[in-house]
Amino acid sequence: MVESVTITDNRTGQSIEIPIVDGGVAADQWSKLLPGVWFYDPAFMTTASAESEITFVDGENGILEYRGYPIEQLTQQSTYLEVAYLLIHGELPTAAQAEQWVREITYHTFVHENMRKRFHEGFHYDAHPMGTLVSAIGALSTYYPDAKDIFDPASRHKQTIRLIAKMPTLAAAGHRYSVGLPFVYPDSSLDFASNFLSMIFKTTELRYEADPTLARALDALFILHADHEQNCSTAALRVVASSQVDPYSACSAACAALYGPLHGGANEAVIRMLTEIGSLENVPAFIRSVKEGHGRLQGFGHRVYKHYDPRAKIIQDIAYQVFEVTGKNPLLDIALGLEEVALGDEYFISRKLYPNIDFYSGLIYQAMGFPVEMFPVLFAVPRAAGWMAHWIEMIERNAKIARPRQLYVGHRRRDYVPMSSR
Ligand code: CMC
Repeated sequence: MVESVTITDNRTGQSIEIPIVDGGVAADQWSKLLPGVWFYDPAFMTTASAESEITFVDGENGILEYRGYPIEQLTQQSTYLEVAYLLIHGELPTAAQAEQWVREITYHTFVHENMRKRFHEGFHYDAHPMGTLVSAIGALSTYYPDAKDIFDPASRHKQTIRLIAKMPTLAAAGHRYSVGLPFVYPDSSLDFASNFLSMIFKTTELRYEADPTLARALDALFILHADHEQNCSTAALRVVASSQVDPYSACSAACAALYGPLHGGANEAVIRMLTEIGSLENVPAFIRSVKEGHGRLQGFGHRVYKHYDPRAKIIQDIAYQVFEVTGKNPLLDIALGLEEVALGDEYFISRKLYPNIDFYSGLIYQAMGFPVEMFPVLFAVPRAAGWMAHWIEMIERNAKIARPRQLYVGHRRRDYVPMSSR
């Protein structure tokens, strides 16, 4: 079988054969035959916008691998910081590399005092913590002007450490401010997840002791969320970073993309949906209304996964481990009922709609005591590793500025009409 496609321009009879390489055909070959004829692909349904070595997703078979390592093995055997190293550097760290990496991250968790005193206090008292996080990440660029040296590998390393380390601190600061609690400083003696839980939940105790099962569950959730190839926020990051802006500005744009309910905001939307459904007997009526086009079943469906989302399977197991400690989330039964009805319904079967990562993550976060507003923030904290891995990859590959074309369908030249004549 020849691994190529042939395109013929029926206007001229000219043809061009384009090889299929790594599952794609190069668009520059298309342009050679058809200059000025644009490939119309809104939402990038069939466009590969980058070559990448970071994350492999096979949507038909439900496979997710970071740098070749299956997500199932990583969530069981690794830690978030080790996975962050893997995503950024391409290989698992040796013991010495891991020690240095963890030390560097741990000692960069503090943020400038002005961030706490002036920046966060400038927000309205009930500011959504995802809104403050989007702004806080962008604001980091004003504290680190060296971040503009994007072609200096040492600077790239420094910004990577800073961002991964400061994400939990900024996230927790947004939460504490929004609920009127004092800011908690990072505790360098704690592991990544336990330190985050301390900054979120600490009150009067001298040292916050996170439940080890909950800290481990949160760390596993961080691994699951660390990257997902060219998703909406990473695509946003790549577009913005292609202008050669500093990485904090680019990650702020990525975080804004993650805020939306079709992306990282879905876990928040799931809990609101389950709360609205209220009880098991309302499930059939809710499913009916979704099928009639009144809203979506939040936490269902995925652009790439058309069979099942491997992250959703893992997250279900984590949910039961967490509920052993916290007690069962009362919304779980509604979620299970909803899943059962949807998985047996022709509407969802024919559209290949299955639970995604967000269907269960919110139930876990809620059981752990996080308010719903924090759910997208909990997605953003670990995704920083993926964003920085993609940023480094695209800079190292000298990516060109992203500049799509359009099919113009509006008016052509017409003369201005004075107000009195309209
Ligand atoms: N509930 C009901 N119908 C749905 C849903 C849903 N959750 N998702 C898709 N559909 C229907 C949609 O109406 C369409 O039907 P029809 O062909 O009759 O018009 C068909 O399925 C295809 O949908 P689409 O919108 O063209 O699919 P997409 O690939 O553009 O969207 C999605 C993917 C994830 C945005 C979408 O499935 C969705 O909105 N899901 C709910 C939000 C959600 O859970 N998002 C989290 C995604 S996973 C975490 C992450 O990576 O961010």
